[in-house]
Amino acid sequence: MASGLRTGTGEYGEPGAWRAAEDGHRGRVTDLRNELQKVLLAEQPRTVDRGRMPLVERYLTTVIETRVEGAVVELGCFAGAMAAWMRTVLDGAGDGRPVHAFGAFAELPAPGPEDGNCLKEGEFPATEKDVYVLHDRFGLRRPLVYAGWLTQTLPASLPDQIAFAYLDSYRYDSILTSLEHCVPRLAPGALLVLDGYADASAGDHVEQPKAPGVMRACRKYFGDRLPLWTVHDGCGWGLGVYHHLPAIA
Ligand SMILES: C[S@@+](CC[C@H](N)C(=O)[O-])C[C@H]1O[C@@H](n2cnc3c(N)ncnc32)[C@H](O)[C@@H]1O
Repeated sequence: MASGLRTGTGEYGEPGAWRAAEDGHRGRVTDLRNELQKVLLAEQPRTVDRGRMPLVERYLTTVIETRVEGAVVELGCFAGAMAAWMRTVLDGAGDGRPVHAFGAFAELPAPGPEDGNCLKEGEFPATEKDVYVLHDRFGLRRPLVYAGWLTQTLPASLPDQIAFAYLDSYRYDSILTSLEHCVPRLAPGALLVLDGYADASAGDHVEQPKAPGVMRACRKYFGDRLPLWTVHDGCGWGLGVYHHLPAIA
């Protein structure tokens, strides 16, 4: 599928023809996204729900429209649902940046002391192949997949400059590692979105009881005055959003 449109009259002839081609491209991307959303809601409802997708779309679109430079990354990739969704958001905007997807693709060890019951041992089994199969099924450009524990993959492979980061590993240790590597690489204006950040029905900075390690890792990294805001996904799971603004001298 084409991920960008030429401007001017080149490939499509007169401006009117180009506009028609652009409308056709947008229509195809919209149809594809509707179909992808339907399939993800049916097949991977635990990781992407009706609320999360529009929120990720909103913030990724903000980064695209404000022309923040840098990579688009997912830290905590499972079977490729959010990576594919982000691909369609980029494609819809004619943005050819690849999605970088980091995941264990291995049996998870038991949760640590800060995690409660979050992500029980062995949960979320998936392979890199699952990610590719999902993308191929929809004719989407495959993400760059980095398989392994974040402590091993991030130092070697996380891009130097990040425009948009989606942190979805839920575990205290994993989120802390993600923040330590991502935040120093954020470009001015970049957005970092954390899944499972808060219990949105209880308040902005109330831990999500099913994933307490996420906010605890944020407190460890940022301190008690958390520089994030919470957005609802409509299901009680609040996503945390951090906007990276350059310090004013
Ligand atoms: C909730 S799932 C992610 C769902 C995915 N973002 C999606 O939307 O489809 C959490 C994932 O984080 C991964 N994960 C957790 N801790 C990790 C770590 N330290 N290193 C690599 N992957 C990790 C797990 O393997 C699991 O697949």
